[in-house]
Amino acid sequence: MWLVTTFLLMAITQTHADYASLQAVLSQNGLQKVSHWMTDWLQKELSTITLPEVSGSVDIFLGSVYYVLHDMTVNRCDLPEPSVAYSEGTGVSLQVNGLSVVISGHWNTKFGLIHDSGWFDLAIFGTSLETLLGFQKTEDYLSISTLTCLANVGGVKIHFHGGGSFIFQPFVDEFSGEITDMIRERICPAFQQEIENVNRVLAASETIKLDPFVYLNVSLTDPPVVFQNGFELNVKGEFYSARCPSEPPFSPNHFDLQWQADYMMSVGISEFCVNSAAFAYFKSGILNVTITDGMIPKGSPIHLNTSQFGSLIPQLPKKYPDMEMEIVLYASDNPKISFNQTVINLDVSAAAKFYAIDTHTGLIPLFRLDMTEAIERIGRLVLSTIVLPRLNAQLKDGLPLPSVKGFSLTNSVMTVKNGFLILATDINHSADILQSDKL
Ligand SMILES: *[C@@H]1O[C@H](CO)[C@@H](O)[C@H](O)[C@H]1NC(C)=O
Ligand SMILES: *[C@@H]1O[C@H](CO)[C@@H](O)[C@H](O)[C@H]1NC(C)=O
Ligand SMILES: *[C@@H]1O[C@H](CO)[C@@H](O)[C@H](O)[C@H]1NC(C)=O
Ligand SMILES: *[C@@H]1O[C@H](CO)[C@@H](O)[C@H](O)[C@H]1NC(C)=O
Ligand SMILES: *[C@@H]1O[C@H](CO)[C@@H](O)[C@H](O)[C@H]1NC(C)=O
Repeated sequence: MWLVTTFLLMAITQTHADYASLQAVLSQNGLQKVSHWMTDWLQKELSTITLPEVSGSVDIFLGSVYYVLHDMTVNRCDLPEPSVAYSEGTGVSLQVNGLSVVISGHWNTKFGLIHDSGWFDLAIFGTSLETLLGFQKTEDYLSISTLTCLANVGGVKIHFHGGGSFIFQPFVDEFSGEITDMIRERICPAFQQEIENVNRVLAASETIKLDPFVYLNVSLTDPPVVFQNGFELNVKGEFYSARCPSEPPFSPNHFDLQWQADYMMSVGISEFCVNSAAFAYFKSGILNVTITDGMIPKGSPIHLNTSQFGSLIPQLPKKYPDMEMEIVLYASDNPKISFNQTVINLDVSAAAKFYAIDTHTGLIPLFRLDMTEAIERIGRLVLSTIVLPRLNAQLKDGLPLPSVKGFSLTNSVMTVKNGFLILATDINHSADILQSDKL
């Protein structure tokens, strides 16, 4: 019996917790663009990196010559656009051909008591890299593995200048094949190291802090799916109040994202995701507005003051004669939002607290009014006639992404489905992101 119970419990908790509330697909189009940005960024990165010192010793007949190559800088770097393609069920294949780098630096040698120094130029050309990257879910996040990596170097040219260069230049020319091999052997490990760095960033980004009040849990619910022309991530997509994170009294709903290959990215946002945001903001206690008399136009026949409210509540001006008033309008329960093809419904239970403003002692609470019906009607009206058209107009002009600086959404369209929203969009970024030290 306990076995049956355990199974039933497992089945219930699994179906309850595991639906993705955010689904995102990067199309082939999107992949191309991302790879283009990475190339631009890498090209700039490579020209500013500081290369580590290289030292060693070479045996000549009379003993060992110690050498140090130092203060090396990249003078030029030509990084051709890589070709990228999805590898169905696996990840992404990437190929770069014809990469060349020109480096200059200084050399020092020590042979017994003899010290010598000068400078050098090093050109590495015809470099290629071919790799297959696998995407998987490790614990709750995306990780990338290097499944295959093949590097080749067309050749190197080194010129030594100054000091006794003329003595060892012919010697170096003879060994250029070995130097080429040494560089080639280091490319894939260096590339893998970069992928490990990316994995560390991915592993550390389980949540996105939206503002001081709420954060979004973006841990993966399922392994990533790689199609022939797209890459899909299924994300938990639940918002939490930063101050008092707790599970909402409703469960995730299942939905299937019909994504669009002609946009760079498609994102499906479930009702649950949006409602968890509303719940998190409600829990944070910030869903309120204060209405003061100053906000009411001078010519209005109604003003927030006790004399005027006397016609409704005669005791008020007797107890608090001729005082200004203030209203705090707040959500008294978590707002509930639902999507249904043509409309977005918003149910807000709201209440209002009325205060008299005493210039000496501050606010004096007067009374509370529940105004659920009226607000609910207002909410529905505002959303369908004002918010959605405005949102789509704004999306057309582009929408900055606050958490990913420099990137913005362009050419976006939001559509309402039963139980979820779809945002189909292109992504644009301003050139200055390339100047920043992190992506
Ligand atoms: C995010 O959700 C995952 C899966 O439910 C959970 O394991 C993890 O602890 C959550 N992280 C935070 C910071 O809420
Ligand atoms: C109203 O919201 C603000 C934040 O915008 C918050 O600091 C304040 O405590 C809230 N007041 C009430 C009465 O909920
Ligand atoms: C309240 O309203 C009355 C009538 O409109 C006006 O005469 C009075 O100055 C107002 N008092 C305050 C404190 O605003
Ligand atoms: C969507 O709205 C229509 C018309 O108001 C209604 O007939 C239908 O039942 C609603 N569908 C859902 C899933 O709520
Ligand atoms: C993309 O961003 C750049 C720079 O911010 C801007 O000049 C360009 O118009 C944008 N393109 C689109 C399609 O929005």
